Formats: sequence, C-alpha cells, structure tokens
Amino acid sequence: MAGNIFEHLLQAGSLFKDRRALSHGFTPTSLPHRDNEIKTLVHNFVEALHGHAPSNMNLYGVPGSGKTAVTRHVCRELKEKGAELGQPIHTIEINCRNIDTKYRVLAEIGNSIRSDDDKLIPFTGWPADKVFEIVRERMDSLAGVHVIVLDEIDHLVRKVGDDLLYSLTSLNIGLLENSFCCIVGISNDLAFTEILDPRVESRLAPIDVVFNPYNAAQLEDVLSTRAAKGIVDEGLDGAVIPLCAALAAKEHGDARRALDLLRISVLKAELEECDVVTLNHVRQAQNQLEFDQITPAVAGLPLQQKLVLFSILINEQNGLRNVSTGEVYSTYETACNHAEERPLTTRRVSSLISDLDMLGIISAKTVSKGRQGRSKRINSCLTPSFDAFQVMRTSDSVMGDVIDARYRLQKRL
Ligand SMILES: Nc1ncnc2c1ncn2[C@@H]1O[C@H](COP(=O)(O)OP(=O)(O)OP(=O)(O)O)[C@@H](O)[C@H]1O
Ligand SMILES: [Mg+2]
Repeated sequence: MAGNIFEHLLQAGSLFKDRRALSHGFTPTSLPHRDNEIKTLVHNFVEALHGHAPSNMNLYGVPGSGKTAVTRHVCRELKEKGAELGQPIHTIEINCRNIDTKYRVLAEIGNSIRSDDDKLIPFTGWPADKVFEIVRERMDSLAGVHVIVLDEIDHLVRKVGDDLLYSLTSLNIGLLENSFCCIVGISNDLAFTEILDPRVESRLAPIDVVFNPYNAAQLEDVLSTRAAKGIVDEGLDGAVIPLCAALAAKEHGDARRALDLLRISVLKAELEECDVVTLNHVRQAQNQLEFDQITPAVAGLPLQQKLVLFSILINEQNGLRNVSTGEVYSTYETACNHAEERPLTTRRVSSLISDLDMLGIISAKTVSKGRQGRSKRINSCLTPSFDAFQVMRTSDSVMGDVIDARYRLQKRL
C-alpha cells in the first residue's frame, strides 16, 4: 500500500478546534446560569480586596452543578485583582477525596505558601501541631488574605472528623496577627454541617450557597459556550447539543455528563471520518458512557449479588418480564447449587434485590396484589447491548459454571 497509514487522517483535519475546551480540567471564563452563585462569592470575597477577612462559605450541590468551576473562576479573578491593587491574596484548592487527613491538608497548605528559604513539609512524619504552627507563621509572614478551598470536604470530615476545621477556624480567632484566612467548603451533601460539632459549626458560621441542578435548556447554553470554543463551526448537526443536554438533564442536570456526551460524540464522528457530528454519534456516546459506568458496578458485585442478578437476567432472557421475588428465588437456589454456595433466606435475597435497585442495575417496584399482600415486579435496567453474563464470567470464575449450567425456568401463560 502506498503512503503512510497516518497520512490521510493528518490531512483530514479535526472536528475539534481546541480539544481542551471540552475537557474536565478546563475552567471556562464564561459560566452561563451561575450568575447568582458567582455574585454571592464575589460580594463576600471583595472584602479581601479591602484588606478584611471574608466570611467562610459552604457550597452545596449535585455533581456537575458547577461548584468547582465557579470557585476556580472566582478565585482566579480575585487573585488577578489582588495583584493589580497590591493586596496580597493567596488561594489554595485542596481535593479532600485525595488529600484526606488533617496532617496532609495542613502540609499541603504550608507547602503552597512556602518561600524559597522555607523547608518543604514532608508527606508524613512531623507532629501535626508543628505543621499547624508552620502554617500559621507562613500565613502571617506572607500577610494578606488566604482563601482555603476544601473541595469534597464531606469526605474528609466523615473519614477523620472535624478536627481540621476546628484548627483552621481558630486561626482567625486570635492566632493570626498579620493576615486572615477564609475557608470555602464544597460538598454534595446539604446535611453536611449536621455532622459537625456545634462548636465547629458556630465558629465556621459560613455563608451557604446552594447550586441547583441545571435543566435541559440551561445545559444547552453551557454546551454551546464550550462548543463554540472547542468544536469547528458547522461541525455539529443542529440537534446534537439539544440531545446531549436532554440526556444529561435526566441525569440530575449534570454538566460534566453533558460535556462527556458531546466530547465522545465528536470522537465517534472522527472515528467514522465524518465531517459533521450527528444524533447517531450522540447515541453511540451515550451507550459507551453507560457501558463504562455499568461494567465496574456489575464486575464489583459480591458473589451472592451476582447470583441474584443472574437469576433475574436469565428469567428475562427466557421471555419473563416483571418477575416476582419468588420466581427469582427459585432460579437463585439452583444457581447457588451450581456455584456450590449455600442459598441465603428469601428475606436476605429480597434485600439484595433492593440493593441492586438502588444501584440502578434493576428496577424493583412493589405492587399490591390485593388480599395476597404485596409483591415485587423486577426488571433489568441494563441496555440490551450490555453483556452482563460476560462481565460476571470474567470477574468471578465461579460464575462461569453458573452461567453454563441448565435451568428449568418458569413460563407464564
Ligand atoms: N455554567 C457552566 N458553564 C460552562 N461549563 C460548566 C458550567 N457548569 C459546569 N461546567 C463544567 O461542567 C463540568 C463539571 O462542573 P464542576 O466540576 O464545577 O461540577 P461540581 O459541581 O464541582 O461537581 P462535583 O460535585 O462532582 O465535584 C466542568 O467541566 C465544568 O467546567
Ligand atoms: Mg467539584
């Protein structure tokens, strides 16, 4: 074959104008439908530009509602203005899902405000009190206002308690002499402050900002601004953004999901060497995202859960919809036999069915059957193209024997 196999793709050009504009890490300068939230942050942080301490803040909202993006955008603008006005402003963002002990958070803060002569605080090993004292000293020697953003703060507090917040809030009550600090906690959980010690809560006294989920029309605007930066003009069929927005709106209005759908749709179109992204590419992207989400969820189920799921799916394959707990249980007993596992009680199996429902893998609706009491109507929620048996087989060797065995399945007239 003549020529290099990459040649025609290099010649073809890309549907992306700037691929980064559609990635998670990119912080846009324009954030549609977050004006009120931005305004609340700006009104509070302007205090820092006057040389005073802003209040602490707690930002809440469902995943993908723009909490991190808004905070980064406002902090960036704040630092820029501070530099212009000669007001020292230092901001640090810490993700408490990754940095999840009091020591490591303090070390991270201390190292972020280290001057050239200062020692690097080690990853571990120093007494926590010493690290805290260094943080205090360095804050005062740099002066100005220190904004500490603790993203996903609920993880840290659930894991190690609220001692860190107690220490950090004590800085403004007499410990800092030449500077101020302000804590911005971000979480998904509206009830987060309920798990704090009342003393910590009252010292924190934060301004609460709730980020509501985006609706489909708002997500269209979010996607349009990002697409204008990231995708070539005329690269999208007119219905692509509305479909991505509508699909993501169903997933609690998650802007991250909407962006993922759009980015993967473009990649699918490029793979097919198309000049325009179409609805078909969005559907492919949606399938891939569902597939990527559901595979680890099914693979990670404990064996007993897999046996229950298998019993639901094999009945369904046999043409039975709306199966009852009893019907699942009788197949499940045979499956346990093949797996050489002792069957759990019907009650336990019923609760495993509810767990699968919670995970979104199946739906189990309770229906009243009049005098015969109540029963469940169980159906799979997996997309038909998803091969659950293959995933179970490769993740659990016992499941191979269970799947290959013969079952006497029930039929309804
Ligand atoms: N109004 C908006 N305009 C443009 N992009 C947005 C907007 N809101 C969110 N995004 C983008 O959507 C993605 C998710 O937003 P972000 O990370 O801020 O969500 P989050 O609320 O912090 O979610 P989580 O709780 O999961 O951390 C990011 O890529 C962000 O840039
Ligand atoms: Mg976030």
